[in-house]
Amino acid sequence: MKLTRRQLLKYGLRGTVLVTAGTAYANTWSGQIELTRPTLTIPSLPRQFHGLRIGHLSDLHASLIVSRDHIASAAQLLMREKPDLIVLTGDFISGATKTISGDMGAFDASYLERCVEGLSALSAPLGIYAVLGNHDFWSGPRAVEAICQRFREQLGVVWLRNESRALEKAGKKIHLLGVDDYWEASSSLHAAKQDVLPDEVSILLSHNPDINEEIDLGKTKIDLVLSGHTHGGQVVLPFVGQPFLPSGFGQKYRAGLVRDGARQTYVTRGVGHLLAPLRLNCPPEVTLLTLV
Ligand SMILES: [Fe+2]
Repeated sequence: MKLTRRQLLKYGLRGTVLVTAGTAYANTWSGQIELTRPTLTIPSLPRQFHGLRIGHLSDLHASLIVSRDHIASAAQLLMREKPDLIVLTGDFISGATKTISGDMGAFDASYLERCVEGLSALSAPLGIYAVLGNHDFWSGPRAVEAICQRFREQLGVVWLRNESRALEKAGKKIHLLGVDDYWEASSSLHAAKQDVLPDEVSILLSHNPDINEEIDLGKTKIDLVLSGHTHGGQVVLPFVGQPFLPSGFGQKYRAGLVRDGARQTYVTRGVGHLLAPLRLNCPPEVTLLTLV
């Protein structure tokens, strides 16, 4: 059978779409989770904290399409590194999801259980600290309450809901701050910052990196922001990228390290995925940050 040029193009295009979709599906498998090890320099970091290793997980999105085993793989990958401290920056479940055509899905307690079970291996000498993401809030107050309670009881998580905790070593302090998701009216950087002196090192956990807008507007001194939310784009097409990021800053906070003057923001691509089990040019990420 002889194919016309048009048929060749048609079959070629279909083949490319199928191979791309297959690759994107395979990229969501647990074996594709990438451990990244950024080293961040904070000039005013007290000597006692040099070399502090922070394990960072975000956007677990436990759901029908993100399994307990996938989350457990991420937790095990991190625990092999023996971090001093672990931070979790929200979107623990995919419950109710807001889309342009309205709300989709609802809070399912079994997704919370798979997330808690998946993360059950986590422990760190300086503790596990967490903030909530937009999907946690969108799932309703009952979901927020259940997430906070289960994580506190099962994993010993300390929630930073517009508050801070001091980490002390040999009389020197650094501060961990956390805010509710930036899209929520309950988010308050002002409240989170109130116990921190201007010359002390402050590390802010914020699910959404767009919190940088408020930091700049308030001329608030923050040394490091740790975020997720954008999933690194999740599906990043060759030559096209991912033009639909949920950020008012366009591509700026898509993934990785971003500098705003002296302040640094690290945006992890996250562990899970949303809407479909697809990731392209954007593998799931477990992050181990070292402060120097
Ligand atoms: Fe997310």
